[in-house]
Amino acid sequence: MSDHTFIQTKALLQATLVGAVIGLTLFGLSIAQQAQADPATVKLYKTHCQSCHMPNGNARAKPLNFTDSEWKHGSSHREIAACIRDGVKGTAMRPFKDKLKPAEIDALADYVKAFEKPADAKN
Ligand code: HEC
Repeated sequence: MSDHTFIQTKALLQATLVGAVIGLTLFGLSIAQQAQADPATVKLYKTHCQSCHMPNGNARAKPLNFTDSEWKHGSSHREIAACIRDGVKGTAMRPFKDKLKPAEIDALADYVKAFEKPADAKN
């Protein structure tokens, strides 16, 4: 193999490897998103939450926004679930414990947390 061909082959191999890594990363991300978007949970969100929190969780008012990585009432799963279960007294955020099952509240907590942009995620 001449030097020239060798360099070309090496460049081609490197390009293929980079392509494979990017492809796998995108594939992994799409799987992760699909895992979060359980149709039953999406439906619950549409029915009970979207009117105030917007379809993508990007409501303009800060405490309602799920994408700005600011969680007024805490960013842990437990804190977010508690917020949904018990509501926030004195605000439009009503408790959902009488309307939703604990498992549904758990799933919604994961769902709204996932609106947070991955680049801004703190954990
Ligand atoms: C009638 C409007 C309304 C509906 C419907 C509603 N919310 Fe809220 N939600 C609010 C408001 C207003 C706040 C901000 C409360 C505050 O100021 O602390 C809030 C806050 C939250 C927070 C805390 C955000 C933070 O920064 O800590 C979570 C989590 C949340 N809502 C989830 C939900 C989920 C899940 C649903 C559906 C099951 C839902 N909300 C339905 C109005 C609503």
